[in-house]
Amino acid sequence: MKKIAVLTSGGDAPGMNACIRATVRRALNRGLSISGIRKGYEGLIDNDFVELKSSDVSNIIQRGGTILHTARSERFFTLEGRGRAAANLEEHEVEGLVVIGGDGSFRGADALATEYSIPVVGVPATIDNDLWGTDLTIGFDTAVNTALDAIDKVRDTAAAHDRLFIVEVMGRSAGFIALEVGVGAGAEAVLIPETPTDLEKVCAKVKDRVSRGRTSNILVVAEGDEAGNAFEIARKIEDMSGLKSRITVLGHVQRGGSPTTTDRVLASKLGWAAVDALLDGASPCMIGEISSSITHIPLRDSWTKRKQLDPLLITLSENL
Ligand code: F6P
Repeated sequence: MKKIAVLTSGGDAPGMNACIRATVRRALNRGLSISGIRKGYEGLIDNDFVELKSSDVSNIIQRGGTILHTARSERFFTLEGRGRAAANLEEHEVEGLVVIGGDGSFRGADALATEYSIPVVGVPATIDNDLWGTDLTIGFDTAVNTALDAIDKVRDTAAAHDRLFIVEVMGRSAGFIALEVGVGAGAEAVLIPETPTDLEKVCAKVKDRVSRGRTSNILVVAEGDEAGNAFEIARKIEDMSGLKSRITVLGHVQRGGSPTTTDRVLASKLGWAAVDALLDGASPCMIGEISSSITHIPLRDSWTKRKQLDPLLITLSENL
């Protein structure tokens, strides 16, 4: 293998730049040349390649977002799109691809590897932490710290006004962020898609606390909870119990900002290991870290197997 390429795809995650940096420097260190592909699979289809040198990735380890830009590509889900992508990789003499992203990006990478025998290695990067085969995905730690900081501030105003707040965090189909920040912020209830949400029970708990003088209450809800989004839940709670609330939707603020040390170090390890995996012929696989050891799993396992929430965290969120 003489030349590889790297791209970031799907929702951006803090630490993607640190991962690009490690991937580029490990590739050069192993005697490979490396191209960056801009805007994820969109750039792969549109032939948007740029040669990367070591100095191109200087001074980016601390920056959120991704210097390569990212996209959610509908076209890559078509045979025609992947055909153009494969042709562009061949034109640039790229013999292996590192894909930094989440499950949607890995599905695309797996299809490309299967249909065109192109070696691919996935690096898990999504604030949702919803990929099997790694304890943490790049970006999760920064996102939960950002959300926690915001909820601590909400707690101040909730306490000052004796109010009920409903704070919505990201997580379209997974409650990892909500559970982590809910426990960390001492929320009165955490509503997540993985466990049934009983709003009658939540209302009873809040009313009981208010009757005991605990007049500030915070509910953390994952955006994918089956009871609805924060606005729908607020309306249902008011209809059921008369409790009025204020709503804070944290949204995309959770995706930005300078990555934490944990994310920078994880991203550096995984970017490094991804290049080694390509050279070792481990494609199609995902690099991860479990109990401080680097792991390789078949790429498909990352989304076909379901990562479980920590049951102890669920117990804590219900009882503390
Ligand atoms: O996958 C990461 C994520 O931030 C989810 O938590 C969220 O539901 C989604 O992306 C939002 O995507 P977009 O920025 O495309 O609206």
